[in-house]
Amino acid sequence: MADSQASSQPSSKASSQQSEQGLQSKLPEVGTTIFTVMSALAAEEGALNLSQGFPDFDGPPALLERVQYYLTHGYNQYPPMMGIAALREAIAVKVRNLYGADPDPDTDITITSGGTEALFCAIAAVVQPDDEVIVFDPAYDSYAPVVTLQGGITRHVAMSPPAYRVDWDRVADLITPRTRLIITNTPHNPTGTVWAQDDIEALRTLVAKYGLYVLADEVYEHIIFDGLEHVSLCRYPDLFERSFVVSSFGKTYHTTGWKIGYCVAPAALTKEFRKIHQFVTFTSNTPVQHGLADFLRDHPEHHLELGGFYQQKRDLFCRLLEGSRFDVAPSAGTYFQLLGYERFSDELDTDLALRLTREAKIASIPVSIFYEDAAAERYRVLRFCFCKDDETLRQGAEILCGL
Ligand SMILES: Cc1ncc(COP(=O)(O)O)c(C=O)c1O
Repeated sequence: MADSQASSQPSSKASSQQSEQGLQSKLPEVGTTIFTVMSALAAEEGALNLSQGFPDFDGPPALLERVQYYLTHGYNQYPPMMGIAALREAIAVKVRNLYGADPDPDTDITITSGGTEALFCAIAAVVQPDDEVIVFDPAYDSYAPVVTLQGGITRHVAMSPPAYRVDWDRVADLITPRTRLIITNTPHNPTGTVWAQDDIEALRTLVAKYGLYVLADEVYEHIIFDGLEHVSLCRYPDLFERSFVVSSFGKTYHTTGWKIGYCVAPAALTKEFRKIHQFVTFTSNTPVQHGLADFLRDHPEHHLELGGFYQQKRDLFCRLLEGSRFDVAPSAGTYFQLLGYERFSDELDTDLALRLTREAKIASIPVSIFYEDAAAERYRVLRFCFCKDDETLRQGAEILCGL
């Protein structure tokens, strides 16, 4: 998401209901996303930017070569609305090999303009006015605004530090006859936690009992550590029947700027998903889709080795922070590391994130803004991104150890 709030205070909330032209805002609570705010501030202050989640290294050379090939060989007009066949087929093979599911590339897989577009289309396909949607806070910031745009109501279940586990009794208590959708996210941004089999069993019980739909945000599916297995909803036929499973090539191939993702969902759900997709973007970048199709087919080792690649970076970052005053519980997945600072500061995380950017020249993301519940202000945790060159991580850790 692009944050754009022109405020100097990191917040996802804006105050005015109306624009200067008197336009009634559909999202009066929404300002510029925190990622945009902190990245802009980092640039302004000349700070090391460990806030927004993008690598400071390039995608695999063989992938760049394939995209360049298609770009210069006439693959520059509209591709099919649902995405090119070769890419949908390569995704079907990957999903079959990894998760044992057998999605039909023609009816169950749609290429989108990033995971973000897939999240939008899935929510828009399911949520009717006054429907309720359950999300787990700290929640990725695109979910709730899209629910609001459909006239739906977001119900937040808070997960608290240090474990950030879902309280399933609380989820069950929140379910009403209007509950339509649960949005899951594992591996989880911003906490770096990973769901276990227990979570799947609890979800499965509720989905079956109340006939809910699930939107599974799995954009970090391959970035998982210490031998843990990603519990993709594609693995469970009863859950998959009711699910939209979203992933992002930006995360997997270090190419966040290309904005290509996809959604795997059963044919009946995909049919509705595509009705929205065709009027949001219609389709996505042709040469990049062709390049991705070749690379995914010819280089499965890339996504299979991605967890190991990022685990080395996580280990390096955590090891370098051993002498610091931060509390470090190594992330289980994603390329984010939470650092607790209650041992040396009682500042709000929003204040500390600003101060560190301005004074220590290092940018991070305050975690409390991903909660609806104001009680999260008492958590003393910042999120740092470690999808960076080792030298950048060394520089970051040196600053943090000096605090
Ligand atoms: C949890 C989560 N979901 C979705 C997205 C969006 O993915 P994309 O950049 O492919 O739109 C992100 C990107 O940061 C994310 O962290």
